[in-house]
Order: sequence, then C-alpha cells, then structure tokens
Amino acid sequence: MKQNGFNIGNVKAENNLFLAPMAGFSDVGFRSLCKKFGAGWTETEMISAKALLYNNEKTKRMLACASNEKPKIVQLFGHEPEVFAKVVSSGVLSSFDVIDINMGCPAPKIYNNGDGCALMKNPALAQKIIEAVVGSTDKPVMVKFRSGVDDKHLNYLEFAKMCENAGASAVVLHPRTREQFYANHSNWEHIREVADSVSIPVIASGDVKSRADYANLIENYGASGVMIGRGALGNPNIFCECMGKENSQDKYKSLMYIQKTLLKYFEEGYVLGQMRAHLVHFVKNIPCAAETKVKLLKIETLKELNKELRNVLKNAKTVL
Ligand SMILES: Cc1cc2nc3c(=O)[nH]c(=O)nc-3n(C[C@H](O)[C@H](O)[C@H](O)COP(=O)(O)O)c2cc1C
Repeated sequence: MKQNGFNIGNVKAENNLFLAPMAGFSDVGFRSLCKKFGAGWTETEMISAKALLYNNEKTKRMLACASNEKPKIVQLFGHEPEVFAKVVSSGVLSSFDVIDINMGCPAPKIYNNGDGCALMKNPALAQKIIEAVVGSTDKPVMVKFRSGVDDKHLNYLEFAKMCENAGASAVVLHPRTREQFYANHSNWEHIREVADSVSIPVIASGDVKSRADYANLIENYGASGVMIGRGALGNPNIFCECMGKENSQDKYKSLMYIQKTLLKYFEEGYVLGQMRAHLVHFVKNIPCAAETKVKLLKIETLKELNKELRNVLKNAKTVL
C-alpha cells in the first residue's frame, strides 16, 4: 500500500491513520504514545462546546496536547449552532488544525440531550451546526457520525452529502446504528456507498484490528483514511503494524510514557485514574491477567503502581 501523506482540507499528515476519539482513553498521554507509534493523526475525545464557552476549567484542560501531536484534531459535541460558532471564533481552539463535530455518540446522556447521534434525527439542525462552524473558522471541519439511529432510519448517505454541501472537508463514518451501540461487526459496505457518493475524503471507523483490515478498507471499500479505536487500547503498536514497520517497545515503557506525559499537565489523582483505565488493556493478555488487574486497580499511589507494573510487565512486549 502506497503512503504519500494525507490531507484534510489544506492540512497534511504523513499518513491516513487516525487514533479514534475515545472518551476516557484519548488523553494527551495516550495520544502522544500513539503518535510515536505511527498514527498520522490524533484527536481529543469529545469535548462539550457549551462547557468550553462557559470557560469550565476541567473542560479546558481536555484541550492539552503534546508537542509531537501534529496535526491535531479537536472534537466538539453540542446541539446549538450559536454555541459552536462562539466557541470556534473565541480563539480557545487556536492550537488545533482541524475541528471535528461529534454526530455519532450513542450514549444516553449525550443522545437524550439532543447531542451526538441525536443530530442524525435532525439533519436540518446538523446542517446549521456544520455551517456555523465552517463559517467561524478557516480550519478544515469534519463530521463523525453513524449509519443512522436504527435499522429503520439508515440515513448515512443523505447525511454524508449534507455534510459535504454544508462545507465539511471530510466525514468519518462508524457504520453501526445508534441502537447497535457496539454490537456485531460494523457494516463496511456503508463506507463504500458513502465513498461513492461524496467527493470529500471518507474516513472509516470500526473494527480495524490489523494491517489487513486497514488495507481492506482502503483498497476494497473506498476509504481515504482509517481510524483505530479499541484496537489501539493496550496496543499502540497497531499503528506500526498498519504502516508495515517493526516495533516492539515494551508495555511497561509504554505505560510510563503515558504517565510521564500526563504528569506534565495533570495532578497525580487524575493521572492515577487514567493509568488505571489504560493498564487494564495493557495487562489483558499476560498470564493471570484477571488477578493482576484486581491487584493493580487497588493501588493508590503512582510510585507503588509503577513498582508493581514493572514486576508484572517485565517480559511483556507489544510485539508485532
Ligand atoms: C470507550 C470509547 C469511547 C468513545 N468515545 C468517543 C468520542 O468521544 N467521540 C467519538 O466520536 N467517538 C467515540 N467513540 C467511538 C470511536 O471513536 C469509534 O468510532 C468506535 O469505537 C469504533 O471504532 P473501533 O472499532 O476502532 O473502536 C468511543 C468508543 C469507545 C470504545
């Protein structure tokens, strides 16, 4: 597979592999690690446009980025065009290169508030939001959505065309319905249909677990780029694998890299919480993983956690 860089609008990265936005996991430490392992693009988890507008300190901290994250994408969620417009023109996102709008989140607390995938039920409002963002910035804008709300409302094709007409520079499709959440395999046929119907890049998200999946989506389903989410958890090496490069950094070093990066921005309590979230995935395939996990999750200081992690991960490599 040829890799000649990949553009979203006028923003270019060295490849078309993205770390997917994942609430609770796509922190600055994990993003920076995935970038080191070869992800062309990293993206924040979804961030409330309204909370940013109200200067919420906790929310603003989610904008922290590492120096190796280039180019970088911020993902916003919300449902009020004027809130998006104000936030985007306020300058608070000035360090980001691309703005992504979340129109796919299925979680009840998001969906029931009219955000995320709920916008697929209201394409007219979704269009106003995209136009408001596009009209408030020179940065390229992309939209991430699902196949529809449920099997009876599969509107991904019309939705993708609407995004293009409203000025989006790329779309990301996670081809499952809201009703499906994460059940079954995502329907890659929907990627092909969208790719055939719009002239902006279509980025595929869903069930990419290997270089073969990546190549399949690019070569056979018309995807211009591919996002990897769950397949990267505990396994940042997947980006190297997809690029056909060898790398076998060990799991302990990977976790310490996440931690060191997080400590540049956050206090120990938050970092400990994030380390717990990540370590569960890094210890998944080691012997006695379940008992080890329980033991590790009870530890209450980073110093102790690191000592124990070093012991349990001594020989565990993230080998290809
Ligand atoms: C824990 C978790 C959190 C997620 N958070 C977000 C999010 O903040 N924004 C978003 O657009 N998608 C989010 N997603 C969806 C992923 O970006 C991705 O589309 C989905 O997981 C399918 O890709 P995968 O099979 O590679 O994981 C999340 C997924 C998971 C598993």
